Amino acid sequence: MTADKTEALRQIRDEILNLTQSPLYAFRVQNDYFPVIGQGSHEARIMFIGEAPGENEAKSGRPFVGASGKLLDKLLESIQLAREDVYITNIVKDRPPDNRDPTREEIALYAPFLVRQVDILRPQVIATLGRFSMEFILTLYDAPEKKQKISALHGKVLHLNTAYGTVALTPLFHPATALYKGDLKDTLFEDFKVLKQFL
Ligand code: URA
Repeated sequence: MTADKTEALRQIRDEILNLTQSPLYAFRVQNDYFPVIGQGSHEARIMFIGEAPGENEAKSGRPFVGASGKLLDKLLESIQLAREDVYITNIVKDRPPDNRDPTREEIALYAPFLVRQVDILRPQVIATLGRFSMEFILTLYDAPEKKQKISALHGKVLHLNTAYGTVALTPLFHPATALYKGDLKDTLFEDFKVLKQFL
């Protein structure tokens, strides 16, 4: 089972490596960057979904290793959740220049890979980091909350009807937002506690 998952994830990696039609492909190659596919346990109950890699992530090919990643590590530690026991990925797998927001076109191009990752790993809990992944997941599963804002939904447990059963969705603020809006940091630590019930 795990071997099948690994093979299916490798297939995704290979397709993304060769995604020459991506508007971010040339930027990746020019800078010797890697795409960031995802990292963590293939048996994870919880999948974290961020936005797009930053420079540190693109240089290493691993998600959340820069400043946001350091905060994510502290958040995981605060609920005694080991990074190796979860799976961490992003909607967009290549770094957008200047860390700008991903465009609608970029999200549309990369999202099918994320959908395949969810279907392969079948997490029981999806924890979105930031509004881009939250809005995408709410829309994908046609959740009743799909028109609501992250300011209203953060820290809640919502329910998604997926092809493999009901999955809990916990929308969380993006750690980068908490880094430049200090008052959100406490909220993020408080919201993370919602995940404890799933450990
Ligand atoms: N921000 C993200 O959304 N993802 C990363 O991997 C790093 C920073």
